[in-house]
Amino acid sequence: MSKVVMMNHPLIQHKLTLIRDKNTGSKDFRQLVKEVSMLMGYEVTRDLALEEVEIETPVVKTKSKVISGKKLGIVPILRAGLGMVDGILELVPAAKVGHVGLYRDPETLKPVEYYSKFPADIEERDFIVVDPMLATGGSAVAAIDVLKKKGATSIKLVNLVACPEGIEEVERCHPDVDIYVASIDEKLNDHGYIVPGLGDAGDRLYGTK
Ligand code: URA
Repeated sequence: MSKVVMMNHPLIQHKLTLIRDKNTGSKDFRQLVKEVSMLMGYEVTRDLALEEVEIETPVVKTKSKVISGKKLGIVPILRAGLGMVDGILELVPAAKVGHVGLYRDPETLKPVEYYSKFPADIEERDFIVVDPMLATGGSAVAAIDVLKKKGATSIKLVNLVACPEGIEEVERCHPDVDIYVASIDEKLNDHGYIVPGLGDAGDRLYGTK
């Protein structure tokens, strides 16, 4: 069963309130999403394996820890997921970035992949799939499907705002994927928006309508 990790660090909650506010413009919105993503990235990478290496300080030879084991991959779901990449990359600059683009088939209403590109060594990486909103869960499930089909075995999902419907869908389809969120909101409305939510994350990031 997926683990759902709620990140209620005061800084994350404070910045999320500013992100939700409809009076926050695109420039601040982008900056805040980046900052919250970085803070969430700190927690998401908490279980990275460490190994001891020998180094020399200006004073003495010593053993000290560095991150070992599998390398990281960050996968934004286009387009809004892009807003979360830079914050995590600042923490883990060696991570590679894959991309998944999905559109909704107008007849089946199911997400269809129109673009994907991943690092070559996909089996050897731990992946962090990012999307600010976990609404129906359709896109997240489809993006994780694509990654798994290409060989990924270790995947975490990171969303700023989720709702119970989306969490249930990811848990049902991908019980091995842990979900990290800054908020679990009340519900989805009839237009597919999370309530209270923050509106359309892509439009607010990029100033479109
Ligand atoms: N996608 C968004 O950008 N906002 C929502 O509320 C739901 C899905």
